[in-house]
Amino acid sequence: MSGEAGVSGAGVSGAGVSGAGVSGEAGVGGADVSAVVNGGTGVSGGAGVGRATAGPAGERCLRSVLGRFATGVVAVATRDPGTGERAGLAANSFCSVSLDPPLVSFCVAHTSSSWPRIRAAGQLGISILGAGQREAATRLAVRGGDKFAGLPWSASPGGAPVLDGALAWLECTIEAEHPAGDHVIVVARVLRLDASREGEPLLFFRGEFERISR
Ligand SMILES: Cc1cc2nc3c(=O)[nH]c(=O)nc-3n(C[C@H](O)[C@H](O)[C@H](O)COP(=O)(O)O)c2cc1C
Repeated sequence: MSGEAGVSGAGVSGAGVSGAGVSGEAGVGGADVSAVVNGGTGVSGGAGVGRATAGPAGERCLRSVLGRFATGVVAVATRDPGTGERAGLAANSFCSVSLDPPLVSFCVAHTSSSWPRIRAAGQLGISILGAGQREAATRLAVRGGDKFAGLPWSASPGGAPVLDGALAWLECTIEAEHPAGDHVIVVARVLRLDASREGEPLLFFRGEFERISR
């Protein structure tokens, strides 16, 4: 399946909010958060059941609770039009937003060093990672260095980098950015897209990469 934006394929069944996070992603900001957790089962991972507040304990509780929301993983990547260098990050906050116009979203931490580069390029490729792309996700999550060295990729028709072997990709422009605590919610407009291959998705659950077991 492939097509230009506006066709039915734009409606990826994305899920979720940012937050399962690894390497300092979830974050509560400063607000108090009530986390009503199944009384006394210890779901909060030691952070205290029933109520999570700002600070490390609250953050731990949020991570523990939100981490139980299983997500897929995408690579968000761009190519600097001036230098040709690629920049990118792994994200599990990817979500479908609108079919008409075709919009998707993801959340990026203010601490991301890659986001300003992606933002400056204006165009980005989103690759929906397959179960065999755990290594690629890990590479893209490392801060600094050439994350793309040895990572097979291709240019989308509009020139955005998409990872070879991904289940699907979307070529997008940035439609809007909405500040949200320690993250920014990025809304991206889908220009082109393709479901490149069949296969199992890469899953992220409770801070670990997982596979679907049937
Ligand atoms: C499975 C997984 C999901 C992630 N999801 C997000 C996310 O939704 N938003 C985000 O800002 N960072 C997320 N990260 C972290 C980024 O991939 C990356 O580590 C972070 O942006 C720091 O790298 P940078 O400085 O190059 O941006 C995720 C990492 C992994 C491994």
